[in-house]
Amino acid sequence: ALPSKVRIVEVGPRDGLQNEPGQLSLEDKKQLIEMLAGAGLSHIEVGSFVSPRWVPQMADTGELFAKLARKEGVLYSALTPNLKGLEGALAAKAGEVAVFGAASETFSQTNINCSIVESMERFAPVVDKARAAGLKVRGYVSCVLGCPYEGDIAPAQVARVAQDLWDMGCDEISLGDTIGVGTPLRTQALIEAVAAVVPVEKLAVHFHDTYGMAIANIHQALLLGVAVVDAAVAGLGGCPYAKGASGNVATEDLVYLLNGLGVEHGVDLGRLCEAGWFISERLGRQPTSKVSQALKGR
Ligand code: HMG
Ligand code: MG
Repeated sequence: ALPSKVRIVEVGPRDGLQNEPGQLSLEDKKQLIEMLAGAGLSHIEVGSFVSPRWVPQMADTGELFAKLARKEGVLYSALTPNLKGLEGALAAKAGEVAVFGAASETFSQTNINCSIVESMERFAPVVDKARAAGLKVRGYVSCVLGCPYEGDIAPAQVARVAQDLWDMGCDEISLGDTIGVGTPLRTQALIEAVAAVVPVEKLAVHFHDTYGMAIANIHQALLLGVAVVDAAVAGLGGCPYAKGASGNVATEDLVYLLNGLGVEHGVDLGRLCEAGWFISERLGRQPTSKVSQALKGR
């Protein structure tokens, strides 16, 4: 059955902007995040504490946290692949951190320069320290429905990685269809396999929309009881280590779906669209969201 309420995790400032070729100004990033909070989003992924040589677009995350006018009740989070990243997040007073692993060996090597087993060894102290500091920790699993290097990934393999992150102490597991190849039936098999080892209310779904299936997959996940959904305003996004992967599902499209389903989410669609047009204009393009384009044309 559908959940009565969904928590939207807005990943545009991180997943979206990490993949932009040019460097967006700190002022523009700050304004985007403040507009998103103003639209009612209660969880915003601000950036990543990662190597600036690997992802230069996220190098100003600490500064961005420092400049941000934080809104009461909004959770501002960041990616932290190792203890150095966690130090940055703690100094920045992030409200939640995320470790990010993968269900594919090759992707793990390409994205974070270590094997899946090594990644778990690196994440464990990050999770312990973050929790000791009172922070919640999200655990991402990438390539849950396919890998750019290895092709299909078995649900059982995803479940193993998700369970390791859960056993380690992650509070929530976000399942990433990094290259957006999933379809609803495969989404169902995935959620069923993972929900057998992690409570379904602790799962989030994270769909990239490369093949235009994200909304259909999200609907399927909702029907199975998932109530946390990641999305990026204007459909920004991708992954620098997954060639050909396009943006996340657009938050505008997700909000329109939830409105149609009568599921609560707390976001003002008009103000959200404004944030999407703002950032898209800065990037010299249009939002990928059909909802946003349709509403603008009215
Ligand atoms: P490494 O080279 O193996 O790390 O990279 P290292 O520990 O050997 O350190 C090498 C250098 O990086 C050193 O600097 C460190 O200080 C520095 P040097 O002495 O050479 O000048 N360094 C750092 N600097 C700042 N912050 C840090 C940090 N750690 C090391 N935290 C590492 C390993 C994980 C650091 C690297 O591979 C990396 O930064 N990867 C980031 C990849 C990334 O951000 N990918 C995108 C996010 S994941 C994603 O998009 C998928 C997701 O959306 C879900 C989905 O869609 O599936 C989440
Ligand atoms: Mg992603």
